Amino acid sequence: MKFDVLTLFPEMFKPLEESIIGRATKNKKIEINLVNIRDYSKDKHKKVDDTIYGGGAGMLIKPDVVYDAYKSVASEKAKVIYLSPKGKTLCQDKVESLAKEEHLILLCGHYEGIDQRVIDKIVDEEISIGDYVLTGGEIPAMVLIDSVSRYAQGVLNNESIKDESFSNGLLEYPQYTKPELFENMKVPEVLLSGHHKNIERFRRNKSLELTYRNRPELLEKVELTKEDKEYLENLKKEDNDGYIKIN
Ligand SMILES: C[S@@+](CC[C@H](N)C(=O)[O-])C[C@H]1O[C@@H](n2cnc3c(N)ncnc32)[C@H](O)[C@@H]1O
Repeated sequence: MKFDVLTLFPEMFKPLEESIIGRATKNKKIEINLVNIRDYSKDKHKKVDDTIYGGGAGMLIKPDVVYDAYKSVASEKAKVIYLSPKGKTLCQDKVESLAKEEHLILLCGHYEGIDQRVIDKIVDEEISIGDYVLTGGEIPAMVLIDSVSRYAQGVLNNESIKDESFSNGLLEYPQYTKPELFENMKVPEVLLSGHHKNIERFRRNKSLELTYRNRPELLEKVELTKEDKEYLENLKKEDNDGYIKIN
């Protein structure tokens, strides 16, 4: 899988040289090519931005430099994504579907953003990483590359991905490693029992509880078993018994 990143700040992508993504690049499971948009400026001072028509604070990246940078990597198969707070929010389903693409071109804005005409001309999809505004699209592009690459062929083994948060619609259960006793806190007994069915139920219940407490809206989309429903009903009952309801 190939990522071409159009950016004014290629040096910001150093973190992707580390750890799992760095290894995946070295092993040629993924390829990350950084394209400096500034290299395509025809201006003698390498200017890439200008003031905004109609007024307004800040500067906008010019369409022609972005277009020329794009043309240097364009391909028939490529899907072009503009990282933007105006896009649809990135979620696990989107990550997994993007991992099936062969070639992604990621466009990073900066300053006030990018002239709309080049966005209309080349971009297939706008993706946001959350409802807040960052100074540039570089960190969002790294978030996208990191999350998508984990699902690219040969980057992780399938077992590591299987039970993770969101993969079955729920948040992942808490996990523990050695030592068995830490600061007077013991690893839950059931995890030491070797009883696979009980361990599975314990983990499922913890996932349900965490999702119910932190992201209850996710539960609406999950297929729940009779046991799941009973467990959640009991949780809700305990909560209601424990709190004094106002209004
Ligand atoms: C300061 S922002 C521009 C914000 C724009 N003027 C607006 O109000 O929507 C500069 C660049 O950062 C990137 N960016 C900022 N927040 C983002 C987010 N939540 N998700 C993805 N990209 C973001 C985009 O590439 C954007 O062009």
